[in-house]
Amino acid sequence: MSDLENIREEVIPLLCGASSLSELEEIRVSVLGKKGCLTELMKGISSLSPEEKKTFGQKVNELKEEISRVFSERKLFLETEEINERLKTERIDVTLPSRPFIQGRIHPVSQVTEELLAIFSQMGFKLAEGPDIEDDWHNFEALNFPKSHPARQMQATFFMKDGGGDILRTHTSPVQVRTMESQSLPIRIVAPGRTYRCDYDMTHTPMFHQIEGLVIDKTTNMGHLKGCLIEVFKAFFEVEDVPVRFRPSFFPFTEPSAEMDIGCSREKGEFKIAKDKGWMEVLGCGMVHPNVLKASGIDPEEYQGFAFGFGIDRMAMLKYGIPDLRTFFEGDIRWLKHYGFIPLDIPAINRGLSLNGGVKR
Ligand code: PHE
Repeated sequence: MSDLENIREEVIPLLCGASSLSELEEIRVSVLGKKGCLTELMKGISSLSPEEKKTFGQKVNELKEEISRVFSERKLFLETEEINERLKTERIDVTLPSRPFIQGRIHPVSQVTEELLAIFSQMGFKLAEGPDIEDDWHNFEALNFPKSHPARQMQATFFMKDGGGDILRTHTSPVQVRTMESQSLPIRIVAPGRTYRCDYDMTHTPMFHQIEGLVIDKTTNMGHLKGCLIEVFKAFFEVEDVPVRFRPSFFPFTEPSAEMDIGCSREKGEFKIAKDKGWMEVLGCGMVHPNVLKASGIDPEEYQGFAFGFGIDRMAMLKYGIPDLRTFFEGDIRWLKHYGFIPLDIPAINRGLSLNGGVKR
């Protein structure tokens, strides 16, 4: 019995004084491990009488419990001390700027797409998408382009080589059809994406970007279309007021159709939103043609709505003063460094779309 007492008197102060977790563990093993002194002592239990076994066993258990309690307390103390020590030495300043690590830039097309999506999503529009390689049905037929209609030629279409009739979509309007075919009513979507036409000069590239808008319900009218677009362009150009003008136009898939111009000046080649200085055409729009609704399985007697589409690249050129569209897609790293955006400046309505209203580099 006194052996147990000896162990107790020796071990408890050792545990209490252990100065590291490894030292603490060493002490524990020296007592309770396979070759530990308490384990050794337990081996003698078989030579004891049943009565002695009982009391000895009890005492051993008590000692074990005491040792493990002291061990746990000391362990917790040492661990806390270790964490505090690490917190002191490993502290990082999360307010340090991350700028020095940023190498890449966000392309103006990506930036402007994000800006437009921020605006439209706040107005309750959902994002929709469609494929770049389209079939004749979605790009033309369902959009009320009859087979021999001259408007088909106006689109300078790229045809796929395999002769299967597929094309590269000439506009994002096919996403209107795909959405009406697959989604339930009412509909309020925008669809940004790549579009393709055989064209190449300062303001045209064979691949360019459009964003399509579509609203279908029972009461939406031309006035809503106008109000919606004015709000979008005010938000996009980050100005109080944008002069706009709607001119009658023609698209096979809208009736009536219109084109929207915005008032602007172009002094010394620089574009500015302005009144009474001139107009620039920025988009096509109109009320969705009953034939298009029918082709997509919607009853035009019950439902109506508007659609619009415009060039994202054109918007980037206007807002950020980039003169030549062709440079957008040349992949010149110096161009991107000049016109690109810092990745962490994510467009958001509540703190200005582009930081400092356009002065963002
Ligand atoms: N798809 C037309 C274009 O590419 C734009 C448009 C979209 C017009 C929707 C009316 C309605 O020019």
